[in-house]
Amino acid sequence: MEKTLFLLPLLLAACGTPAPAPEPAPVAETRMVNVYSHRHYDVDKQLFTQFTEKTGIQVNVIQAGDDEIMARLEQEGEKSPCDIFITADAGRLGLARSRGLLQPTKSEVLDANIPAALRDPEGYWFGLTMRARVIAFNKEKVKPEQIHTYADLTAAKWKGKVLVRSSENVYNQSLLAAMIAHDGPEAAEAWAKGIVANMAREPKGGDTDQLLAIAEGIGDVAIANSYYIGKLMASDEPEKQKAKGMIGVLFPTMGAHGTHANVSGGGIAKYAPNPSEAMALLEFLSGDEAQKLFAEGNKEYPVKPGIAPAPELAAFGTFTPDSLNLEALARFNAEAVKRFDAAGWR
Ligand SMILES: [Fe+2]
Repeated sequence: MEKTLFLLPLLLAACGTPAPAPEPAPVAETRMVNVYSHRHYDVDKQLFTQFTEKTGIQVNVIQAGDDEIMARLEQEGEKSPCDIFITADAGRLGLARSRGLLQPTKSEVLDANIPAALRDPEGYWFGLTMRARVIAFNKEKVKPEQIHTYADLTAAKWKGKVLVRSSENVYNQSLLAAMIAHDGPEAAEAWAKGIVANMAREPKGGDTDQLLAIAEGIGDVAIANSYYIGKLMASDEPEKQKAKGMIGVLFPTMGAHGTHANVSGGGIAKYAPNPSEAMALLEFLSGDEAQKLFAEGNKEYPVKPGIAPAPELAAFGTFTPDSLNLEALARFNAEAVKRFDAAGWR
């Protein structure tokens, strides 16, 4: 009974003269930013979620290798939905610029948060986290005072003791590119030859594999990126415990220059459909909150001055990064690849 009474007014309304159609409520446009990223870390996902909570801007991520992303951007051309390209090497960011895939931008926030050497001079890309290419050593067999420079690893006493990954890897290419920028291609090739002569084994695996090989006694010194060592030190995995106790870290210099450092970073895509949302995301990633999370969550060095690195990295001591503008890494990449080939570094 009650039910019938309740329905009655509705039935009457349905039979009556139709009311004029209501104005459609304005649909709140969803703001979004489309990211193509080579990075695959949990910390990035966390940061994108925080950004959405803070700004209401939705972040859509496509993950792929950087070569694949650059090919895709070229293929998509003007119709590309990509707003930001993010990857883990300044040389690759520079390559994206030279292939015409990025656009120049200006931001006082980014200029204030990111030291000049860690971003493109014309604003095509910006470093968001820093990593040093350091030397890990077996503490029982090596005294850190024995090694001051990358070149020290070419001395005869390290024959059969040096662990390092393939020259196909961009981190090594960027290290050699920095050497070319400072000392010229001949000196860089001579260094590469010296390392090849001292290798403990044919290059294989990634940076973490070189660290584990120290624990297995395959070699005594390894060239690796700092965050891999930070992550190893923070790891609970049983197979990593032995290496954790055995490994020390030193920061080699390039002669008069500091330790080779590289960045993970991003740039706004040439045809970005949402450039202001893209800029908002880059600015957020360079800010205090994000820089702290990059440091703690992924053991990367913050680029923003005044933000502390993770305790695992702080324990290695401090270092002076090479002041070379990282734009040079792309400029000398092809030469570096050529010199590695000439040196026989697979
Ligand atoms: Fe890496």
